[in-house]
Amino acid sequence: MQSERNYIFNGVEYRTVKKFFSRINSVWLIESINEAGQKFILKDFEHNKDRLKAELSGMEIFKDFSLKMIYSDSRYLIHEYVPGETLLSYFEEAEKNNTSVSNPVTLMMNFLKAMYKSAPGYILGDINFNNFIISGSNSESKIKFIDFENVKLGEIEDDLGRIISFALTYDPAFTGWKYDFVSEFIAKSEQVLKADKAKIYFYAEKEFVAMNVRRRLEIDIPEVLKKVK
Ligand SMILES: Nc1ncnc2c1ncn2[C@@H]1O[C@H](COP(=O)(O)OP(=O)(O)O)[C@@H](O)[C@H]1O
Ligand SMILES: [Mg+2]
Repeated sequence: MQSERNYIFNGVEYRTVKKFFSRINSVWLIESINEAGQKFILKDFEHNKDRLKAELSGMEIFKDFSLKMIYSDSRYLIHEYVPGETLLSYFEEAEKNNTSVSNPVTLMMNFLKAMYKSAPGYILGDINFNNFIISGSNSESKIKFIDFENVKLGEIEDDLGRIISFALTYDPAFTGWKYDFVSEFIAKSEQVLKADKAKIYFYAEKEFVAMNVRRRLEIDIPEVLKKVK
């Protein structure tokens, strides 16, 4: 793992400002050491060169919505920093404040519709809510996707089913508010994204099975799906 230090790319020196949580790669917020003091994201793929290629390829596929690239070589990637909060923290706050579930649903639908339209046949792959940043203030807020490593060909219902499984299991899991969110999310997926409901359930179930193994949970999948339906 990389420690805090200065880096020089394209002749400009940067210092590390903060390290983000990443299970696999090293992800840093960096700032140029000059009057500009520009902030960027540095990803170090030291032991994961194939992942770097995958990230670049995903960014190319969704190029209309990608992050502005500053530099890349076989190990490092530097791109635009998107200030704002993650979708996860926005989602958690929305529930705490008992905000209408329509707010996150509308925000996500607008984003997904534009994203899928720009690259037909492709899906995001890793829909962890920490991979989306809400930028801009209230009425102008927008979602930006920041992790293109798992972009692939697939059915949009794969992303959508996983989104509802993730949404339901964030802490506190399986609350009434989260079920309301999911029910509206599915309804709008059918309307706005022309998604197939049965397929969404199929992929959600698949994700719950994976979660029970991965997180050693005992989610009562038939019971949850009954409530969702
Ligand atoms: N362009 C960006 N703008 C703002 N924050 C970012 C950006 N890229 C990454 N981050 C932060 O770093 C974290 C990890 O980055 P991510 O690309 O998701 O790496 P990983 O492959 O480990 O999931 C994100 O959850 C986010 O908090
Ligand atoms: Mg990520």
